[in-house]
Amino acid sequence: MKWLYRWLVRKLLRLRYVHASTLIGLPSLVSPDLVTGRDCFINVGAVIGPKVTFGDYVLLGPGVTFTGDDHVYQKVGVPITFSGRPTLRPTIIGDDVWIGAKAIVLAGVAVGSGAIIAANAVVNRDVPPCAIVGGVPARQIGWRFDSETERELHLLGLARGDFERAHSQRKETAIAF
Ligand SMILES: CC(C)(COP(=O)(O)OP(=O)(O)OC[C@H]1O[C@@H](n2cnc3c(N)ncnc32)[C@H](O)[C@@H]1OP(=O)(O)O)[C@@H](O)C(=O)NCCC(=O)NCCS
Repeated sequence: MKWLYRWLVRKLLRLRYVHASTLIGLPSLVSPDLVTGRDCFINVGAVIGPKVTFGDYVLLGPGVTFTGDDHVYQKVGVPITFSGRPTLRPTIIGDDVWIGAKAIVLAGVAVGSGAIIAANAVVNRDVPPCAIVGGVPARQIGWRFDSETERELHLLGLARGDFERAHSQRKETAIAF
């Protein structure tokens, strides 16, 4: 019945560009223009502003925020709430990115495929593929794989869709038994 839950959530939140395999925990606030690839998981308590795109296999811990719009704050004598908003830059999350609980991703950031964002991080600049970042503001605290060769192999596998094939083979095996 997971497909029914997924379908109902897509209808409820008016999500037109979310892949049918994406699972979203409620309550979450998600902008209707969210784009996701296959097998993404958005844990409960997410707040996702506009112009955000996820690749395949993106995994969000609970309470992750994509802030969306900033406000204009440089108009002397005008309260921020009446100052308007600058043009919103897109936020792009690659394939197989894991974002830890309560992390905050600011608008305009690009997170490379295979990267990990630690719990409670505030991400205000781009994250390289397969990097692990954490802290406020987020800084690189490690690599997901030790060697460059492993990182390249992993990214190549993602780009070629190897994981997708392995997944469907597993399903076929399950049916065969
Ligand atoms: C990012 C994470 C996976 C790193 O785990 P790890 O590879 O085992 O890393 P370590 O615990 O060895 O820590 C490596 C360094 O990063 C630092 N670090 C780890 N988590 C951090 C965090 N959330 N914020 C800031 N720094 C962090 C550690 O202090 C350590 O620094 P040091 O080398 O100066 O001592 C893990 O810390 C994390 O945040 N996981 C997310 C958990 C979560 O949200 N789960 C929800 C379920 S989806």
